[in-house]
Amino acid sequence: MNDSVLRIINSYNPDAPLEAASTIPSSWYTDPCIFEFEAQTVFSRSWQFAARVDQLTGAGSYATTEIAGEPIVVVRGSDEKLRGFFNVCRHHAAAVMTEPEGRAHHLRCPYHGWTYSLEGELKGMPDFTGVCNFDRATNGLVPIQTAVFEKWVFARLSGKEPGADLTAFLGEDLIQQLSGFNFASLHWFQRRRYELKCNWKVFVDNYLDGGYHVPHLHKGLDSVLDYSKYTIENGERFCLQSSPMVATNDEEVGAVRGGPRAFYYWLYPNFMLNYYEGTLDTNLVRPLAIDRTEVIFDFYFADVSDAARERNLASVTVGDRIQQEDLDICESVQRGLNSRAYEAGRLSVRREAGEHLFHRLLYADLKSGV
Ligand code: FES
Ligand SMILES: [Fe+2]
Repeated sequence: MNDSVLRIINSYNPDAPLEAASTIPSSWYTDPCIFEFEAQTVFSRSWQFAARVDQLTGAGSYATTEIAGEPIVVVRGSDEKLRGFFNVCRHHAAAVMTEPEGRAHHLRCPYHGWTYSLEGELKGMPDFTGVCNFDRATNGLVPIQTAVFEKWVFARLSGKEPGADLTAFLGEDLIQQLSGFNFASLHWFQRRRYELKCNWKVFVDNYLDGGYHVPHLHKGLDSVLDYSKYTIENGERFCLQSSPMVATNDEEVGAVRGGPRAFYYWLYPNFMLNYYEGTLDTNLVRPLAIDRTEVIFDFYFADVSDAARERNLASVTVGDRIQQEDLDICESVQRGLNSRAYEAGRLSVRREAGEHLFHRLLYADLKSGV
């Protein structure tokens, strides 16, 4: 930890109430030291989305990902249990599983053929006789914590703090609220990825501005939301933004965004659930560099039959249009954050309580790593 990181962290005041608060300073979005420090703290200690449960049906099914720059694989064992590992071979560190998802009898490294069981134990090392002081039993894949919540597998890299299981991390309140949506009746349909030239927090801030930008930036979406009745409720580590839906003249949007209310849940730090009646999309915000971010959208629908395909695609297309509008503004914000003219901004009391929560939680996580 160098002094400059400490100075940057301390330049935010987490104690100011919303009406007196400023955003986190621009250096948090532009200084590469912060990117590194977030990987060690925020993204290593929180529970992170790792895979969808529907990718992992049956023994031997697996999915790979990266969390905080670490290669990860989640595998369903012969005993049907889900396990997570660093996807790093104990021989010379190659990635053992190289496909995004698939099914295997065992986990074989493509480099020199070392083989691990579905439970992560090292089983075979070609041409390795004569090697002394090598304990096969302690050279299995290095495990990480995993746990399932609803349709998703979450993983956590650092397991040092006792008692921090996924349930405690999400909190009873959130679990209770989400159980009311019957996500089990929805089925995964499609994934879309976007790459943005901005810091990951710019995207999260944009998501958490309480609909502030909706009438200005998303004219189509605005036509189905009752902006004046938009609500913002903070939980311990989540924020729910919700809006009643109204009839619209925008046929493209109106045809695929229905139901009485829209629900937008943000789960600290980087996972979102957007629910309209019978439609769910999740957003995973993955930092790639201080000024580059990938956002992965997974779309779920109640009916994913061929007959419903066209309507589902139309819904994804509406999501895509909204996303494009957000992407452009996020990149504009990142350019502004680099400007000498900007240091921090004030928050709308009516709209931006979610951002205030986000910034304070971030501060607490970064501070705990000092
Ligand atoms: S790096 Fe995996 S077998 Fe050599
Ligand atoms: Fe938006």
